[in-house]
Amino acid sequence: MDSPRSTPTSPPLWLLAELTYRCPLHCAFCYNPVDFARHGAELDTGAWRRVIGEARQMGAAQIGFSGGEPLLRDDLETLVAHARGLGFYTNLITSGIGLTETRIGDLKRAGLDHIQLSFQDSTRELNDFLTSTRTFERKQRVASLIKAHDYPMVLNCVLHRYNLPHVAQIIEMALEMGAEYLELANTQYYGWAMLNRAQLMPTAEQLREAEDVVNRYRERIGARCRILFVVPDYFETRPKACMNGWGSVFLGVAPDGTALPCHAARSLPGLELPNVRDTSLADIWYRSSGFDAYRGDAWMREPCRTCGERESDHGGCRCQAYLLTGDAAAADPVCSKSDHHGKIEQAVQFARMPSREVSAQPLIFRSRENSLRFDD
Ligand code: FES
Repeated sequence: MDSPRSTPTSPPLWLLAELTYRCPLHCAFCYNPVDFARHGAELDTGAWRRVIGEARQMGAAQIGFSGGEPLLRDDLETLVAHARGLGFYTNLITSGIGLTETRIGDLKRAGLDHIQLSFQDSTRELNDFLTSTRTFERKQRVASLIKAHDYPMVLNCVLHRYNLPHVAQIIEMALEMGAEYLELANTQYYGWAMLNRAQLMPTAEQLREAEDVVNRYRERIGARCRILFVVPDYFETRPKACMNGWGSVFLGVAPDGTALPCHAARSLPGLELPNVRDTSLADIWYRSSGFDAYRGDAWMREPCRTCGERESDHGGCRCQAYLLTGDAAAADPVCSKSDHHGKIEQAVQFARMPSREVSAQPLIFRSRENSLRFDD
């Protein structure tokens, strides 16, 4: 077997600018930290401009503006124009709430390249229930605006026990809206989704049926709309290459300026995450202990250390390893070689319980109040 080795660090390829944790929606599967309400003040426009400039200088080519809901920032257009001017490919990841005719026109003029609009279901009832808002019709209006402004129609829908039986209707809705790309992303269990895992976890049968439906549509519609179906980790026996490897291509910046090697990194205790207010992005990327912690494979233990697949899966997800084993350097328990794989099987087994028993536990919706009640 090969022994662990380290390779030189390449520059980040994409910057995720989480402009704000504020959000008009209250999704029960939000990936934001559960304790988001306790985090510090948002970076101002000047600080974001500097971060965007430094990332571009380092070689990053793509920027995602996300949140929370990035449209809640009045300076979104300014930041998009700045990023576009520097040569970034710019992407807005949005619930659509707040995207008016005026704003989409301004964003177009600012050079925004791409918009990804989220839906929660094909029905108003479930969409509005899962977000604890009345937003279904507003999202439909935003979809027409996106089309009218000549953006490619890119829809995203997070799947789980509640809406998996509606996959055919969700695809039909996307086709009616003229979607060119539909991402059906099964819930991954971090943040708020982890709090609600028992209620959101589908059964293996639900997943299989949904995937069959997707495959039938793929055959029927061909290139008219590309459908991506992301299977949840819990139903795999090998882990995903989370973030394509820690500190390898992805650099996230949280609303308060904390730099993140992955979306959920704040949940790892003892990990020192630098802040862009205190130091340059290059220092953070190349010289901080937080970004170095799980780079390469020197940190690995058995069974990852001598595993032939370690270069493709990078040991899986550090945050999932911590959430399920209490040790961020353990193998991701999704892997059947992990001593903790039984925890994954147990959670999946639980999903086989009758629906009424699962739904007896109410969903915990993302809100400021709930955020102050729970720790990450
Ligand atoms: Fe943090 Fe996977 S989400 S490493």
